Amino acid sequence: MRVADISEAQNFTTTTVALVTSELNEAVNVMSAEWTLRVSIEDFLIAAFVGYERETYRMIHSSGEFGISYCSDNQGYLAHVAGNHSFKSHDKFKLAEFNTFPSKHIKPPLIEGCISNFECKVIDEFKTGDHAAFIGKVLAGYYDSEKKPLVFHKGKFHHIGGKMAYDHPFD
Ligand SMILES: Cc1cc2nc3c(=O)[nH]c(=O)nc-3n(C[C@H](O)[C@H](O)[C@H](O)COP(=O)(O)O)c2cc1C
Repeated sequence: MRVADISEAQNFTTTTVALVTSELNEAVNVMSAEWTLRVSIEDFLIAAFVGYERETYRMIHSSGEFGISYCSDNQGYLAHVAGNHSFKSHDKFKLAEFNTFPSKHIKPPLIEGCISNFECKVIDEFKTGDHAAFIGKVLAGYYDSEKKPLVFHKGKFHHIGGKMAYDHPFD
C-alpha cells in the first residue's frame, strides 16, 4: 500500500556505505558516507556528498583529495563507528580496527577488507542543499571479487540479495 509521507519516504532509498578517508597536516580521518556514487566513466569521476559541519568536509576542502573504500558486508561495525563519531572528539582509528593500506597518488590511506577502494583528487566542489558535493577524479582503483557489498536501507545495514533468475541486460 502506497503511503504519502515525504519525510518517511526518505528512508525508502537504498545505498552502499563508503568509508571516506581524508588527511590534513598528518592527521587522518575516516567517516561513513551512504551518499557517494560514480558520476562519469571517461573521466572516471566519483561524487561524495559531505555535510559542511563534518571534520571530513574541512579536511577534504583544504587538502583537495579523499579516499573511498566501499564497505563489504562484514564491516557494519566499522561503518557504525565511522558514522557516529567525529574526529572533533575521537580518534576513530582507536575506537575500532580500521586497518589501512597506503594510497599511491593521494595522502589519505585506504581501508583494508573493503569490496573496492578508490583514490580521488577533487576537481570540483559545489553546494547541494545542506551538503557539499565533492567531485573526485579517480586516480587508482582496487577491488576484491570475493567480497560482497554492505547495503544500507531503512537506517540499517543489510546483506545484498541473490542474483535474479533472468539474464540481466548488462550480462
Ligand atoms: C551509515 C551512515 C551513512 C552516512 N552517510 C553520510 C553521508 O553520505 N554524508 C555525510 O555528510 N554524512 C554521512 N553520515 C554521517 C557522518 O558519517 C558522521 O556525521 C561522522 O561522524 C562525521 O565524522 P567527521 O566529523 O569525523 O567527519 C553517515 C553516517 C552513517 C552511520
